[in-house]
Amino acid sequence: MQNSYALITGASSGLGEQFAHILASKGYHLLLLARREERLKSLADVLRETYHIEVICIPLDLTQSSATETLLEHIKAHPVDILINNAGAGHYQNFHQAPLEKHQSLIALNITSLTELTHRFLDIRMPTKRRLYILNVGSIAGYVSIPFYTTYTASKAYVNHFSRALSRELSQTTVSVTGLYPGATNTEFNKASGLPEDRTTTLFSMSANRVANAGITAMFQGKINVIPGFLNKTMVLFSHIIPEGLIRLILQKILKPPKNIDKVTS
Ligand SMILES: NC(=O)c1ccc[n+]([C@@H]2O[C@H](COP(=O)([O-])OP(=O)(O)OC[C@H]3O[C@@H](n4cnc5c(N)ncnc54)[C@H](OP(=O)(O)O)[C@@H]3O)[C@@H](O)[C@H]2O)c1
Repeated sequence: MQNSYALITGASSGLGEQFAHILASKGYHLLLLARREERLKSLADVLRETYHIEVICIPLDLTQSSATETLLEHIKAHPVDILINNAGAGHYQNFHQAPLEKHQSLIALNITSLTELTHRFLDIRMPTKRRLYILNVGSIAGYVSIPFYTTYTASKAYVNHFSRALSRELSQTTVSVTGLYPGATNTEFNKASGLPEDRTTTLFSMSANRVANAGITAMFQGKINVIPGFLNKTMVLFSHIIPEGLIRLILQKILKPPKNIDKVTS
């Protein structure tokens, strides 16, 4: 049993839920954050029973400006050595047809809350002799520009760059920063983003457990970033070789929204 806590955002499903299982199996106590309280509570019950750890559920909407203030109290009250900035959302639609509020909310979640939480965490926990870990979940979407996921792809480019630069800045400290850049992964993400089922393919998708394991392993190894899976690594490599305009054109053809997209996403 560790005398150490991990704070995981977006723990109610997908990658966040898997991070929780992996860290619990290593004896870490957990602070689990998401909006869906019932989901958090049932996950917490399973984790307590299986791994005999302490689990605290924090039902919070990270797009609310008071959210990081609330989290401060939890970080002050527990020795949090691991921060996993995983909560994230995508929005699939023509940029100008989606209400501005959708884009603002995505930016508040994927960029603003991640930046604030990282800053607050370092404020409270540094300097320390303890080894601290930050794992930020970016995406291979941060390497290419994906039409109809315009705000999402830009937000993930932010996360990717933020993680790599901060990792270098903190390299002489006890804090290690790792960026996890997954490709298609079997979670609730596509459905939540409004991608119609006929555009979704699970053929090349990785399991959430494999992706989460790759992230946690890289984090404890102090790696700057990790792209899980051979196919995803190859796609990122190609994105540096193939002209970017061609990639955008192909993605535009594949992802072009159906005419009734407003009905699909409303
Ligand atoms: N799945 C993929 O193909 C893929 C690929 C690359 C990167 N990613 C990234 O992986 C991360 C995890 O996503 P996932 O694939 O595991 O999808 P997911 O199953 O939809 O999980 C997203 C998590 O974020 C939480 N969340 C969403 N909005 C929130 C808000 N406003 N406040 C607090 N929590 C919020 C959700 O919980 P509640 O709804 O309960 O709040 C959920 O726990 C995201 O950052 C995503 O961008 C996913």
